[in-house]
Amino acid sequence: MSEYETILTERTGRVGVVTLNRPKALNALNSQLMREVVAAVEAFDADDEIGAILITGSEKAFAAGADIKEMQPKTFAQVYGEDLFSQWDRLSSVRTPIVAAVAGYALGGGCELAMLCDFIIAADTAKFGQPEIKLGVIPGIGGSQRLTRAVGKAKAMDLCLTGRNMDAEEAERAGLVARVVPAADLQAVALEAATAIASMSLPIAMMAKEAVNRSFETTLAEGVKFERRVFHSTFATADQKEGMAAFVEKRAPKFVNG
Ligand code: CAA
Repeated sequence: MSEYETILTERTGRVGVVTLNRPKALNALNSQLMREVVAAVEAFDADDEIGAILITGSEKAFAAGADIKEMQPKTFAQVYGEDLFSQWDRLSSVRTPIVAAVAGYALGGGCELAMLCDFIIAADTAKFGQPEIKLGVIPGIGGSQRLTRAVGKAKAMDLCLTGRNMDAEEAERAGLVARVVPAADLQAVALEAATAIASMSLPIAMMAKEAVNRSFETTLAEGVKFERRVFHSTFATADQKEGMAAFVEKRAPKFVNG
């Protein structure tokens, strides 16, 4: 029996798949689901046999937000005291690349969870939004910050202030989403992308992820310097030797993750 009740986990080759599984609540993110997603993703991150993680939901909903029914009775003292939603921050410390495959609703915390992943592949049915304002609250899992960095102030303000949804096409145009695919192809395309990542050298993929993420935390000059030093450090790995030798010898590389 699975150790989880609100998610499904499986391994497909070197890809660890986490599927949100509260269909009756459109995968609303309650505290149990938060604990389980964080635990499952951290377990995959700690596993040397896993080179990429895929987080997905159902055809109808990636996740329709934080669980409103669970939040409704809480007081300020409770949400402040438990530092509600702070556990989600642990996903930003995960070093293995994480792909989000989003179909249907990705609203509020659902949009925020997708943005905690490294990039989003969306079905043409996907709908993104930060509708918290309609409930008398604001985003609480980083939406006001990550959405603004992803799509810029104009659209982030529009979404956070009006609470409207944007469809997959608009989300791709705005830079929130890496690719949009027909809904029927979503799982296959996302798994193919995650499998491609997992076929690379894991430490090098981690360095690439770290370098891109550094751009959100630092100046351009410091970021470029960081990138240059990490680039130099790749020459200390067996996988740089193998990757370049394989190119020169016109064969596929065999990375050893070292
Ligand atoms: N929390 C708890 N339950 C939810 C939920 C949520 N976020 N979203 C949907 N559900 C439940 C519904 O209550 C309903 O349950 P019942 O059958 O027991 O009534 C079930 O899921 C199916 O939902 P609907 O009947 O509403 O389905 P629909 O297809 O008519 O509408 C929807 C879909 C437009 C997504 C609608 O469900 C909706 O608006 N959901 C809430 C979206 C939202 O406001 N999200 C933000 C939450 S706040 C947040 O996330 C804070 C943060 O930043 C961390």
